[in-house]
Amino acid sequence: MIKEPIPVILDGDPGHDDAIAWVVANASKDLRILAITAVNGNCSAAKAAYNSQRIATLIGYNGPVSKGQDKPLYVEPLKAPTNVHGESGLDGPALPEPQKELETLTAVELMAEILQESKQKVVIVATGPLTNVAALLLTHPEVKEKISHISLMGGGIKYGNWTPAAEFNILVDPEAADVVYKSGIHIYMAGLDVTEKALVLQQDVEEIKKIGNPVSEIVWKWLDFFYRFHKSLGYPGAPMHDLCAVMVLIHPEIFTIKDMYVEVETTGDYSKGTTVGDYYHITGKEANCSCLMDVDRKKFIDYMIDYIRSYSEVQ
Ligand code: RIB
Ligand code: CA
Repeated sequence: MIKEPIPVILDGDPGHDDAIAWVVANASKDLRILAITAVNGNCSAAKAAYNSQRIATLIGYNGPVSKGQDKPLYVEPLKAPTNVHGESGLDGPALPEPQKELETLTAVELMAEILQESKQKVVIVATGPLTNVAALLLTHPEVKEKISHISLMGGGIKYGNWTPAAEFNILVDPEAADVVYKSGIHIYMAGLDVTEKALVLQQDVEEIKKIGNPVSEIVWKWLDFFYRFHKSLGYPGAPMHDLCAVMVLIHPEIFTIKDMYVEVETTGDYSKGTTVGDYYHITGKEANCSCLMDVDRKKFIDYMIDYIRSYSEVQ
């Protein structure tokens, strides 16, 4: 029986790793991208939207792209991590100019419209702060039944990366994350526990360099740029944070996954933005998350490179 592709909405803050995740999502025959929506995080929502348009043009995605919320639900935006992704949010190689205008609908309006019209349940793949997703659930609760689950990059059961306790995507908008984790919609959570094992090493970049199609030529330069920051922190490679939230949809077998109840700390001088995972099932609360805890790195990278290789000479 032919497997129907999974309909997805990609919401993120491109961002080098968002961009690479979207390159793979677009190449996979197991996914059908219904929309791309941009959120404030690695850069402003406006810059993320412009980057989204340029990524869409590069990969030949012709569906709707929309700009989302400029600010978190309640808190002030964190300073954009220009040291990680550059001033533009996607520094490095020159990218094609957008072939399509942004949708006039906002990200929330576009997501709501698509979910209301979809005949199939949709997976939301969130690879940035959860502001757009939370705003959607708060303003259009009726669409919850059309969301199969949320596959997100965010949080970490064991540690943070923006504070010792909190990961960047969750910390930018903890209240939004709290809404999403309490929504009753099941979450596949690619937290730092797994994403910092999904490392692209220099040898992998060299292999991508040899491919020579228009997409691979951009991806290896993105990796080069992204690797520089992480190398300065002592990482042996570039962590493909966001790609984990896509790869688990198409190759779940390469991940080690543990179901648990996870809640988000929204206050606390030292703990705001922490994803508190009930690893030992102490609370007795039913799991709301399937937490990715480990990955077969070699298979992850081999699949990633195969998807990049699948782009034709002419995009
Ligand atoms: O902490 C990693 C996350 O923050 C990734 O999604 C990266 O793109 C940034 O948004
Ligand atoms: Ca991101």
